[in-house]
Amino acid sequence: MTPSRPPSGGADPALLPLTLTVNGEPQTLALDPRVTLLDALREHLHLTGTKKGCDHGQCGACTVLVDGTRILSCLTLAVMHGGQDVTTVEGLGTPDALHPLQAAFVAHDGYQCGYCTPGQLCSAVGALDELERGVPSHVTADLDAVTFSPDELRERLSGNICRCAAYPNIITAVTEVHAAGDRA
Ligand code: FES
Ligand code: FES
Repeated sequence: MTPSRPPSGGADPALLPLTLTVNGEPQTLALDPRVTLLDALREHLHLTGTKKGCDHGQCGACTVLVDGTRILSCLTLAVMHGGQDVTTVEGLGTPDALHPLQAAFVAHDGYQCGYCTPGQLCSAVGALDELERGVPSHVTADLDAVTFSPDELRERLSGNICRCAAYPNIITAVTEVHAAGDRA
């Protein structure tokens, strides 16, 4: 049977309207409800900084911030995020005004090919915020006293895989930003 088509010029009933804010800009989309947030960002809004590594929650390359919390954008549907604020790597800084974490990654060679870097940066923003708010991790010894440590940081960034193995330099960069208290 031939699939029915919407009348010429009419709205496709298979698409759902979505309004959300991305990097401070209001966005209105009409999406198939099966479109992931990752594909909405990359394919519909052309924000290709957010990377697709595995597309099933194993690499962290697609990490973005939604209402300030880091999530894997490949594992969530875009239409679930109506009215929310999404921040991608494009919203963290600009080439002329790098986010402190971006500057630290550059200073400490926190990347090689750079494919994982947008996810590493968004994840680091979220991880430092979680530490600030006292959110425990699997290696937190005292749930009432969450403090920064290299082990805490490594655990919190362990979901972001780097095939270039830039891990030591990433930890150095994020540690420096934490020590400076500069998470703008
Ligand atoms: S692309 Fe989302 S976790 Fe790998
Ligand atoms: S810098 Fe190449 S994957 Fe991390």
